[in-house]
Amino acid sequence: MNSQLRQQIIDAFKFRHACKSFDARKKIPDEDFGFIMEAARLSPSSFGFEPWKFLVIQNSELRDKIKPVCWGAQGQLPTASHFVIILARKETSMHYGADYIQNHMRNVSKLPEDVVKMKGDFYREFQLQDFKLTESPRAMFDWACKQTYIALGNMMSVAAQIGIDSCPIEGFGRDKLEQILVAEKMMVADEFGVSVMVAFGYRENEPFEKTRFAEEDVIEWF
Ligand SMILES: Cc1cc2nc3c(=O)[nH]c(=O)nc-3n(C[C@H](O)[C@H](O)[C@H](O)COP(=O)(O)O)c2cc1C
Repeated sequence: MNSQLRQQIIDAFKFRHACKSFDARKKIPDEDFGFIMEAARLSPSSFGFEPWKFLVIQNSELRDKIKPVCWGAQGQLPTASHFVIILARKETSMHYGADYIQNHMRNVSKLPEDVVKMKGDFYREFQLQDFKLTESPRAMFDWACKQTYIALGNMMSVAAQIGIDSCPIEGFGRDKLEQILVAEKMMVADEFGVSVMVAFGYRENEPFEKTRFAEEDVIEWF
């Protein structure tokens, strides 16, 4: 592999940091934000069922409304060029018997009927036996949330590669935030819950130096 490209990608990973506040005067160009969202949309998911939705919150009144319940986004909400709430699907749509799953296989993946049946059987066994996801609605929701973090990682990584800063955000009261989103008709509570949020923009201050465990502390070879 081209060592220059490798270095370029590692430099982007070093450039990325959890940006606490952005330069509010700088807006991400539409094409760049579209590129970030395309990385989200193309992200992998278990069985390919895309258990997510991305709410892009650009309305400043809405940002003010959610700010009191988002303790981890106090500096980011007022300054981010773009702010995304990532929703994850709940049991009502992710259960092996759900219409959403059947529809996805037939109309999104466009699978032939015999494959729909075979994949559906695998999915049922996976949920019942392998991962025991039907044990509780919470297990199913947390499983969907895990997958949204793949999209989250991809979004932040590609943003860094084009010089855009970001911050992942779990600092919010889920119940209260969901109540606001439902009241604003931005989310249907039976279908979705809030997984995680992410802010994008351009840094206002230089970050602290990055610290991590040494390679030998976290990677073991056998
Ligand atoms: C899932 C997740 C949730 C996080 N939530 C918040 C948050 O609510 N507010 C915040 O300022 N930073 C948040 N962070 C940022 C982390 O504190 C940060 O990534 C970590 O300290 C490592 O620093 P670095 O990202 O600058 O390398 C979160 C990070 C992750 C991965």
